[in-house]
Order: sequence, then structure tokens, then C-alpha cells
Amino acid sequence: MASLSARFSAFSRTTRRRAPLYSRLSDGIATSPLLPELYADAPRPARVPVTLFAAVHYLLLGQPGTELARHYPNLTPPQERADGNPVPVFLDFCARHAPRIRELVATRLPQTNEIGRSALLVAGLGQLGDGPWAQLDVGASAGLNLMLDRLAYDDGHGVLGGGELVVECSVRPDGRRLATAVPEITSRLGLDTSPVDLADPDAARWLEACVWPDQEDRFRRLERAVALFRADPVPVRRGDAVADLAGALGDLGPGSPVVTTSWALCYLDAAAQSAWVDALDSRGEASELSWVWVESPHQVPVLPVGGDLVGSDATVLGTTTWRDGVRTDRALARCHPHGYWLSWF
Ligand SMILES: C[S@@+](CC[C@H](N)C(=O)[O-])C[C@H]1O[C@@H](n2cnc3c(N)ncnc32)[C@H](O)[C@@H]1O
Repeated sequence: MASLSARFSAFSRTTRRRAPLYSRLSDGIATSPLLPELYADAPRPARVPVTLFAAVHYLLLGQPGTELARHYPNLTPPQERADGNPVPVFLDFCARHAPRIRELVATRLPQTNEIGRSALLVAGLGQLGDGPWAQLDVGASAGLNLMLDRLAYDDGHGVLGGGELVVECSVRPDGRRLATAVPEITSRLGLDTSPVDLADPDAARWLEACVWPDQEDRFRRLERAVALFRADPVPVRRGDAVADLAGALGDLGPGSPVVTTSWALCYLDAAAQSAWVDALDSRGEASELSWVWVESPHQVPVLPVGGDLVGSDATVLGTTTWRDGVRTDRALARCHPHGYWLSWF
């Protein structure tokens, strides 16, 4: 396993363009003697740069106005932003809060819930027919993608839906839309091994802390989605994608059952991924079922894709349907992993 220092150096290189603040900070801490101390109690999955950055961001969200916060684009308006080198300020903050950061890094794992993927799920549902749908989102995290019918979507050609929160997803090629309408969802349920309870302010703060401060629009969008969710919460149940699938499907309310997954199946090992497809197949043989997937074939080799998509690290949107016992797979589009664009095949 690469050393922590090597991981931070690699992270600095890969984030240089899209997250310049984290790139600079990664360079700055990669060789600091503080690094081993901050990760001293971290379990293996937490030994990645984003855990430390989330821990620091989490503390800053609770103490706005600190000197370090003035370097964070999402925490300070442009006219008040510090323009000096953030590295000494960051190292000083880490040293002063080392015990608390060490505890956070030891006890929490990075967690995300990307509302931009709702646009991709809307596009997939639009290819399946009219619904209305009973949606089961597996690997739902906080459940934000179970509110897809409450949002509006700007696909570059117009706005679909009447929700106050508008998700932008530019669609290619020109002339094609994301969908003709926002789908109707009549019942909904989330399933996740580690659901995020947005009613708990601390859990919501950790989710927000895991968004990168350079991606200010994502941060604002998440804040607004959390507020929307709290006004009318959606149930998300603790459970496993494979072991608890049948029970969760059985508990859906009215509507045609559709399972959605977005960047969730990559968390399952190869055996569990195969068991997942088997579980859907046996359910689909017995009754009508749909699955809309937004996943990477590289990380999820069981995805039903062919040609040059096999093993591809692209994010691919597709659908699998079971009608009268007949299974049909369709790869539909290549997408931005967070849903900023979609390119129909
Ligand atoms: C990267 S997040 C994606 C969350 C959400 N689907 C989205 O697109 O924003 C992956 C989620 O899958 C969940 N997960 C991992 N293994 C799982 C399993 N075996 N069963 C159910 N959920 C799982 C994680 O807890 C996490 O919330």
C-alpha cells in the first residue's frame, strides 16, 4: 500500500486543475511530520487524503471566520478571501486541532450523496415509459436522489419540472433533451449499509464537509437539497444491497418498481456484484422490474455493456428491464460522474 505521503503527492497531482486548494494543501502536508500523527488511529479505508480534508472542513464548518476558512472558496465571499499561501495556515490549524482531527479521521469515512445524478436518473427513467414509479434507490446514502421528481432540470435547451432547486445537466448531441418530462414517483425507499440521517445536524455537516471547497456550486446545491429533504423527508433504511433487496422491493408502495443505483455497485466485491445481478434476475423473472444504473464498467464488470464500454472507466447510464420474464439491457449515455453533462449514444 502506498505511504500516506505518496498518496497526498498523487492527490495533489490529480486535483491540480479541478481543486487547486486541496492540491496545494496536499503538497504542503505530504512531507509534514504531522501526517502520521493525524492518521495514527485510522482504519485502512480511511487512510486516504479526503478523510483528513473532510475532518478539517468539518471543523471549519463549525467555526466560520477562522483564518483558514478565509482560504476556502465555499466559506468566504471572494472580496474577503485570503490571497496568501494557505499551507502554513493549514498546518498550523492541523497542529492546534490535532487530537480532534485524529479522532475524526479514526472514526469517520468519506461519504457523498450527489444530487446532480438525479438528472441522469431522470434521463434513464424517461427511456422506460411513463410510470408512475415506485423507486428503490440502493446505496442511497442520505436519500437525496429519491427526490428527483421535486427538482427542476436545465438541460441547455430548456427547463424540465417546476422544482425550486434547478440541476444543470447539459445534453449532447444538440437537439436531444434529457427527457420529455420529470417522471412521476408514487412511492420511494432508500437502502444503504451506512445511511446518512439528515435529521442529525452532525451527520449532515459531515456530508457537507466531504464536498471539496473548490467545488462551490456542488456545496451550495447540497445545502439546498438537504433543506428540501428536511422539509419532506424520504425513508432510507439500513441494509445490504443483496441481502435486503427482496425485502425492500416488497415494501415499496404503489407504482411500477424501479431500482436505481448510482456509483454504488463499485462498493460491492466481485461475488456480491454477481449476486446482485442474480437477485434482480430472479425477481425480474417472476414479475415486472426495471433497473436504472449510473455506474462505471471498470469498477462494476457485471454491468451489461458491450464493445468499447467493457472495462471502460467512463460513467455510463443504462437501463435493464424485465417484462414478461424477458430481460433487455440498454447502455444509453456516457455521463459526467456528478451529472454535469450527458452524451447520448
Ligand atoms: C459513493 S456513495 C453514492 C451514493 C448515491 N448513490 C449517490 O449517487 O450520491 C455509495 C453508497 O453506497 C453505500 N453502500 C456501500 N456498500 C453497500 C452495500 N453493500 N449495500 C448498500 N449500500 C452500500 C455506501 O454506504 C454509500 O452511501
